[in-house]
Amino acid sequence: MQTEYQAHGGELKQLYLNDELVEKEKEQAKKLASWDLTHRQICDIELLLNGGFSPLEGFMTEKDYDSVVNGMRLVNGVLWPMPVTLDVDQSFAEKISLGDEIALRDEEGVIIAIMQVSDRWTPDKNLEAEKVFGANDHTHPAVSYLFNQAGEVYLGGKLKGLSRPSHYDFKMLRDTPAELQDKFKKWGWSKVVAFQTRNPMHRAHQELTFRAAKQVEANLLIQPVVGMTKPGDIDHFSRVRCYEHLVKNYPEQTTTLSLLPLAMRMGGPREAVWHAIIRKNYGCTHFIVGRDHAGPGKNSQGEDFYGPYDAQNLMNEFKEELGIEMVPFQMMVYVEEKAEYQPVDEIKEGETVLNISGTEFRLRLAEGLDIPDWFSYPEVVKELRKRYPARHKQGLTIFFTGLSGSGKSTIANALLNKLMEMGDRSISLLDGDVVRKHLSSELGFSKEHRNLNIQRIGYVASEITKHGGIAICAPIAPYRSTRREVREMITPLGGFIEIHVATSLEVCEQRDRKGLYAMAREGIIKEFTGISDPYEVPEKPELSIDTVNCTPDEAAQRIILKLEGMGYIK
Ligand code: ADX
Repeated sequence: MQTEYQAHGGELKQLYLNDELVEKEKEQAKKLASWDLTHRQICDIELLLNGGFSPLEGFMTEKDYDSVVNGMRLVNGVLWPMPVTLDVDQSFAEKISLGDEIALRDEEGVIIAIMQVSDRWTPDKNLEAEKVFGANDHTHPAVSYLFNQAGEVYLGGKLKGLSRPSHYDFKMLRDTPAELQDKFKKWGWSKVVAFQTRNPMHRAHQELTFRAAKQVEANLLIQPVVGMTKPGDIDHFSRVRCYEHLVKNYPEQTTTLSLLPLAMRMGGPREAVWHAIIRKNYGCTHFIVGRDHAGPGKNSQGEDFYGPYDAQNLMNEFKEELGIEMVPFQMMVYVEEKAEYQPVDEIKEGETVLNISGTEFRLRLAEGLDIPDWFSYPEVVKELRKRYPARHKQGLTIFFTGLSGSGKSTIANALLNKLMEMGDRSISLLDGDVVRKHLSSELGFSKEHRNLNIQRIGYVASEITKHGGIAICAPIAPYRSTRREVREMITPLGGFIEIHVATSLEVCEQRDRKGLYAMAREGIIKEFTGISDPYEVPEKPELSIDTVNCTPDEAAQRIILKLEGMGYIK
């Protein structure tokens, strides 16, 4: 598509003030209303200030936003596919008058920039989801973010940069666009092809980048995203260690690694165009777009949000004005007979194609299964296994729930002893009564207090799990939503097994070991679960045990077998 506009002349719009002005403005800024930037906003502002988002000069105005949402262009016609907005809550927005300056602070309270608020509006989020991400479907990470995390009101205005957002990790691998452009100039790299990634790189990716560099006779920049990627992705610390191993496999002086503090939106085609513009700002001349670039995965109907080559098609539409050239690739697959990687469109009939999907790869890590050499490099696999050990080496939480007197503590104790006998992980028992004595002594039994108690148990269990131990929890935990919250907190860190001790109320009351049921019936104890307070039965516990026909030994055995079946003990 030809247009009368150029993307922009390649000039970097850096928004930092000079040192003298910074000192002056810093004093003034302390008196301004201030907004604490969210993690995503910190990523955005870093690229706004350092020129990664050139030609933007601040968070978008309403007109630019409308124009970008509807037509992928700023009001002045320049190609820009992604809204970059400052979302705030209603109460903050109400305090601000148009024309005011506000101080934007990072998580530590440092003032990063001053923004002169020129616009304030309530966006149509449904429209934004439809137009920008192609669907108003909350399984899309950016749509979910828009509705569940972003504030109701957007503020727009130009920025004056005072300080750089701080990073304490991998400092040697971080460059601003100007720094990277300078390096390329110094090294004599006149053609540079950039590779974007949010995943660990394996052989397929290395082959793809080799081929790209060879094809366009350019040097190679591996520029992985370390700001925000898709929830559930492998953390950037592990990934960067993998990339560091991998760059050693490229011929010397051909390739460099630099980290990009971008917050991805997983916006597929629009995101690919955005990535390309950003790479142009970093001084690259070419940009690799492979299969399903920045794809968010499946929608709520189980279908892909975007076609595998939609991103390449959209890039082609803007070819003339992008100012950076796409290097497109079909999916790279391993051809067994040739023992090499090839794009899928070059495969001949009868050739055997091997591939391991991202999901399959994660499963293999979790199960401790072999990962073949044709797929990755031993150093990369070793790095990932260290961070994502097989299930029998991970920490886990065994979470009992059930009525008072149902047998939770007894079974938990039996299980504790059997696991201690095995002795391969350290174990902590967070029994209901013990926790109430040590961790939650000030709490009562209202819904609010009960939830707080369970959240505390969940937090401690999550730390134990993260560090590779076993947490056995045995509270009543009567509310489904709180149990779900705990599950969600722990699952990303290790195993979570919910066990419903399903002994009926009648049996518990009949046993009445501590005499509590009698007192509850008489009204001496208030808010007693099962009598004067609710118990929401778990819908999908990993195990349900009724203690009527089951001794504590048998119950503990059932749990051990379950853990074995799930791979948590070997
Ligand atoms: S992305 O969200 O950053 O796009 P990923 O890190 O998986 O995800 O991909 C980085 C780039 O490599 C994208 O351009 C993607 O299309 C490309 N890519 C990844 N795997 C393959 C593959 N097997 N074949 C071709 N291209 C691929």
